[in-house]
Amino acid sequence: MNAKKAAAEKAVEYIKDGMVIGLGTGSTAYWAIMRIGELIKDGLKISAITSSAASEALAIECNIPLAPIGSFDKLDIAIDGADEVDEQLNLIKGGGGALLREKIIASNSRQFFVIIDESKLKTRLGEFPLPVEIMPFGSWLTVKHIQDLGCKPVIRRKDGKDFITDNNNRITDCSFSRIDDAVALNMQLHEIPGVVETGLFAKQMVSRLFVGRGDGTVRVMQP
Ligand code: 5RP
Repeated sequence: MNAKKAAAEKAVEYIKDGMVIGLGTGSTAYWAIMRIGELIKDGLKISAITSSAASEALAIECNIPLAPIGSFDKLDIAIDGADEVDEQLNLIKGGGGALLREKIIASNSRQFFVIIDESKLKTRLGEFPLPVEIMPFGSWLTVKHIQDLGCKPVIRRKDGKDFITDNNNRITDCSFSRIDDAVALNMQLHEIPGVVETGLFAKQMVSRLFVGRGDGTVRVMQP
């Protein structure tokens, strides 16, 4: 059994008729979107808000009714993957480059469900380079300030060009090796002009963590 699929399908079990659901981005969120599509075929009535052009295309393929982000005060549940999760359920996200919309959706949801396979669970964050979304204007200067915080930042490239986010920004992937205080680092990064958003999801944003294992079982953790 695919561990990502198992985690995603367990999280989807919490979705009920009438809910507004935030759809994440990536290979784990893919399975959640596919499962929601199946349930819609069987009569589930929900609407969804997507965190990226890729998730939107998949949701449309699955006939999931979409709504604009401004049409609700709060979403009921956001479901999304993560690149790393520590013991306090702080996250690194943004491996797929959708961190800004993902954070807006997660912060405006009553419940934020994170779905991962067990390889993403770590004692502390930092092995995975932290994605930081930055403005293209003055990006090299922004990167220099980020580097001063003690990391090795690399502007993300794709197909021989700078990677461009759905918001027309850039991503710099920052190798910190270890992140001891995710809340403090997130604040320090936000003080740098040109930083739009960071992939650090701290301050107990997570309501439930679904950890899929290779044997198809899922461990559900709460903060
Ligand atoms: C995209 C993300 C993803 O949730 C994260 O990169 C995990 O991806 P995957 O489920 O493919 O391992 O933050 O911006």
